[in-house]
Amino acid sequence: MKSILKTFVFVLFILSIVACATKATTSVASLETAPTKEFAVANFSEDQLNQGKTLFENNCAQCHKLFNPDSRDAEKWNNVLKRMIPKTDLAYEEGRLVQGYLVANSK
Ligand code: HEC
Repeated sequence: MKSILKTFVFVLFILSIVACATKATTSVASLETAPTKEFAVANFSEDQLNQGKTLFENNCAQCHKLFNPDSRDAEKWNNVLKRMIPKTDLAYEEGRLVQGYLVANSK
């Protein structure tokens, strides 16, 4: 009886891991590694772009002023963000939202 319960708890545990992993990969799954402006505009919802903007404003002005999204083109932003996102406490998915916002509004 005890082992049945253990098995049940174990299965629930696995299921919850699978559920979380699936969720994490689907919500920003549409984002390429180095998105073009057209790609970001087409694949990010308004909600995601707004979240990206807020995360950008709250995390990217700790060391310097906020740079205007249209101060750089998509390629430049993709390169700069490789260096800047690791300087922040942003989780992977949050970093992707910031990238989406900046690239979608780039030059
Ligand atoms: C821990 C401090 C720190 C944080 C946080 C930080 N930056 Fe920077 N940033 C720097 C420093 C230092 C430089 C200048 C040296 C360099 O370019 O690497 C810089 C330079 C830049 C530049 C100009 C670089 C270029 O080559 O054009 C941009 C644009 C930029 N940061 C954007 C961002 C964005 C967007 C974020 C948020 C995701 C961010 N930064 C977060 C420290 C930081």
